[in-house]
Amino acid sequence: MPHYCTLIPGDGIGPEVAQAAVRAVEATGVDIVWRRAELNEAIILESGKTLPQYLLDSLNETRVGLKGPVTTPVAGGFQSVNVALRKTLDLFANVRPVRTLPGIKTRFEDVHIDMVIFRENTEDLYSGLEHEVVKDVVTSLKVITRTASERIARYAFYYAKKNGRKQVAAIHKANIMKLADGLFLRCCRETAQQFPEIQYKELIVDNASMQLVIRPETFDVLLLPNLYGDIVSDLAAGLVGGLGIVPGANMGETHAVFEAVHGSAPDIAGQGKANPTALMLSAVMLLIHLGETEAANQLQSAVEAVYREGKHLTGDVGGSASTEEFTEAVLHAIKA
Ligand code: NAI
Repeated sequence: MPHYCTLIPGDGIGPEVAQAAVRAVEATGVDIVWRRAELNEAIILESGKTLPQYLLDSLNETRVGLKGPVTTPVAGGFQSVNVALRKTLDLFANVRPVRTLPGIKTRFEDVHIDMVIFRENTEDLYSGLEHEVVKDVVTSLKVITRTASERIARYAFYYAKKNGRKQVAAIHKANIMKLADGLFLRCCRETAQQFPEIQYKELIVDNASMQLVIRPETFDVLLLPNLYGDIVSDLAAGLVGGLGIVPGANMGETHAVFEAVHGSAPDIAGQGKANPTALMLSAVMLLIHLGETEAANQLQSAVEAVYREGKHLTGDVGGSASTEEFTEAVLHAIKA
């Protein structure tokens, strides 16, 4: 039986990196059927909808998606596609592995970074509940619930246990937001007690940000509410070389959507300059999710081999290769 996966190439550099990722997955020999679902700025503007029904139908059928970036129209008050997808499919966990790739020059020459970030995806200050009380006075509601906090905490600890990770760090600002972050922290603590084999620690988000920059190698699994998770995820991506190489996944109970964390990069779209690494490594996460561990290892090792060799890297990571040249090098490494 083949696997069925919804492929959303997106727009901007999306189609270029999506094509590269599809070729890389297929080169592993895994039996996968792509259900292509177009979504781009023009479709959103024309239909007036962020998520067309055919896209949701496809994801409801396949339950898994590989997604390129989609430009959010500036005018018209459209929700971002990602926020809409998360809410509609209840993709409660944003998972971002952040690892040093061999051969990439970062500020941390001799440091090996290997952390996985779990960000709660559905509430916090992203609930969109804003209100102008009187002219020029606005409130924005931070919503934290036990249900969502326990769910993300269990997910992070379960991942840590399953993947031989040693430590989970809950990151918060409960010293100031005593009720909201206090509840989040309480849920993390209670969950930690159910996983005695995993070391548990807590860090206040400002200190955590500094520690991440000074000692990134000391972090293992990070567990955060939505807003801190969003910011810390990008900070962490910067530690290993930027958004072009960091994969991501939005996971729910029933659906999973894998995608690079970068946007549609209109400044380089259509020029063959995009780095497809982030989407290829998101495809590695997809393959693991589908139970295709061998294919996942093959693709991960091939990408690492191309970085180690360092001859076919794209401009954003200091090379001069095109998307096509990088992709060919990965395909060659898979075959080798
Ligand atoms: P961006 O991530 O598209 O670009 C930021 C900078 O990084 C640009 O200089 C770009 O050239 C570079 N870059 C990004 N990905 C790259 C790659 N794979 N290879 C080489 N260079 C890369 O962020 P920006 O400019 O803020 O957003 C552009 C559009 O993308 C906006 O419409 C935004 O709404 C949308 N967006 C979509 C996302 C999604 O669908 N997941 C996520 C973030 C933004």
